[in-house]
Amino acid sequence: MLPKILSFAILASSALASVIRMPRSVSNSTSDKLVFCHFMIGITSNRNSATDYDDDMKRAKALGIDAFALNIGVDSYTDAQLKLAYESAAHNDMKVFLSFDFNWYHTGEAGAVGSKIKQYADLPAQLKVDGKVFVSSFAGDGLDLAAMRSAAGTDVFFAPNFHPGQGDFKGIDGALNWMAWGNNGDNKAPTSSHNVTVADGDKAYNDALGGKPYVAPASGWFFTHFGSEVPYSKNWVFPSDLLWYDRWQQILGLAPRFVEIITWNDYGESHYIGPLSSPHTDDGASKWVMDMPHSGWLEMSKPFIAAYKAGDKSVDKYIKEEKLVYWYRPTPKDINCNSTDTTMQGSPNNGSGNFFRGRPNGWESMQDAIFVVALLTSSGTVEVTSGNNTQKFEAKAGASAFSVPMGLGQQKFALTRDGKNIMGDTSLKEIVNTCICGIYNFNPYVGIVPAEKDIDQLQPAGLAMLTQGLTAPCPTNTLGAAKPRATLSRRSLIR
Ligand SMILES: *[C@@H]1O[C@H](CO)[C@@H](O)[C@H](O)[C@H]1NC(C)=O
Ligand SMILES: *[C@@H]1O[C@H](CO)[C@@H](O)[C@H](O)[C@H]1NC(C)=O
Ligand SMILES: *[C@@H]1O[C@H](CO)[C@@H](O)[C@H](O)[C@H]1NC(C)=O
Ligand SMILES: *[C@@H]1O[C@H](CO)[C@@H](O)[C@H](O)[C@H]1NC(C)=O
Ligand SMILES: *[C@@H]1O[C@H](CO)[C@@H](O)[C@H](O)[C@H]1NC(C)=O
Repeated sequence: MLPKILSFAILASSALASVIRMPRSVSNSTSDKLVFCHFMIGITSNRNSATDYDDDMKRAKALGIDAFALNIGVDSYTDAQLKLAYESAAHNDMKVFLSFDFNWYHTGEAGAVGSKIKQYADLPAQLKVDGKVFVSSFAGDGLDLAAMRSAAGTDVFFAPNFHPGQGDFKGIDGALNWMAWGNNGDNKAPTSSHNVTVADGDKAYNDALGGKPYVAPASGWFFTHFGSEVPYSKNWVFPSDLLWYDRWQQILGLAPRFVEIITWNDYGESHYIGPLSSPHTDDGASKWVMDMPHSGWLEMSKPFIAAYKAGDKSVDKYIKEEKLVYWYRPTPKDINCNSTDTTMQGSPNNGSGNFFRGRPNGWESMQDAIFVVALLTSSGTVEVTSGNNTQKFEAKAGASAFSVPMGLGQQKFALTRDGKNIMGDTSLKEIVNTCICGIYNFNPYVGIVPAEKDIDQLQPAGLAMLTQGLTAPCPTNTLGAAKPRATLSRRSLIR
């Protein structure tokens, strides 16, 4: 979760105007399946009006996301931002719900949790499921459910991130599994002797839920790399590679009642699918987020979301636009950045057990490869050139995934059919064997063919801590800057 400095500010009760009751059912669709996306309010304190949320709401809705799970701590700005988010959601026909982050809330605060639910329950954008106010969490095992429900004073559909064997699964209405990545059972990358797959997590939750609705997680990546420049030092990866593709295929087979995409804007853990330009502050993550757009993942998930909602096990007939979505880390995993990396300096507090020096813990679990997902309406040949390595694949109509060994230099992608070029592009990001900004950057660059017309970039507030702790030069927002290409009419995104 997003690290931030705990604020003990007293929660101001916000003056929420225009309380309008909506019909109790969420939608009139034929399916009761819903897709959520985790949204960190902890990094959007710089938003000033509801319109600052509009672009996120519109993009998410266009993708098929039904509601944002608004992750909240106890910061002084939380209510002001929630008010704006609920207002924007209402304007954009989106839904939102509260997701209490128990890094900041305490499980003894059931009354505070209940009153916060009550504060937002009747707003028009509040997600209701089966006629009840939908609420979730990050962690929170041990919360007094009766006290929470009593303070909320309304019917609550509580689907928290309780853990099988720890939380009270009898007293909840559903549960969110946060572990969208293969792991070792102790919040780090798996080893051969301690290997918990995402599917193992699905099973543990479904067993504990005994038929109650499951909120299945879907995530594309995990990499975090905070050093001594911040008080929340942590540095590890979970195996990621083709996860975004494999997990969506798994979700279609599993067909849970709910899916939660992890996340829209948690840049610090590299699992964002929202744009870099989405207004946010910088907690120090810009060092590995700058020039690493992920919006190709957002595009990739669109047909999968449609197939999931239709209850279809195959994505194929939901592919309406042909695309190649590709991603890769910007450097091979064995480069040595120790002499300049941020995690090599100072003596960070390791009370969390999450801090490691040098390459991120778990780095061996990543392949040096280029990953490509073809979304095709008829079969074709996918050609991938990674530096000196070129490979061709016969891709069938529908979705398929390929990987090519990582090569230094330019990265090129093309689709041909019957000997004709259908589409192609050269990525704006080259693979290099030097340490970008001096650090170990295990965040992927995600691109798409045909290319989006705007280059997605961090805005000034999202770059505020870029150079803090860096010991090497760090050119800023370089995508497309060095080699403007005549063939494409991309322009820098100006907001
Ligand atoms: C909405 O649901 C009602 C009741 O099930 C049904 O009669 C109606 O046709 C539905 N409308 C749409 C637009 O699907
Ligand atoms: C963990 O298990 C999965 C599924 O069997 C396998 O693909 C993966 O390689 C294993 N990981 C490790 C580190 O052994
Ligand atoms: C970088 O330093 C760490 C901590 O001293 C060490 O464990 C690691 O082996 C070093 N990495 C390389 C590539 O030398
Ligand atoms: C931080 O703590 C974890 C868990 O105890 C440990 O594995 C790791 O080596 C520690 N990091 C450092 C830099 O000592
Ligand atoms: C790519 O191939 C060229 C020509 O054979 C060679 O000079 C160059 O070193 C190769 N580059 C890499 C990164 O392997």
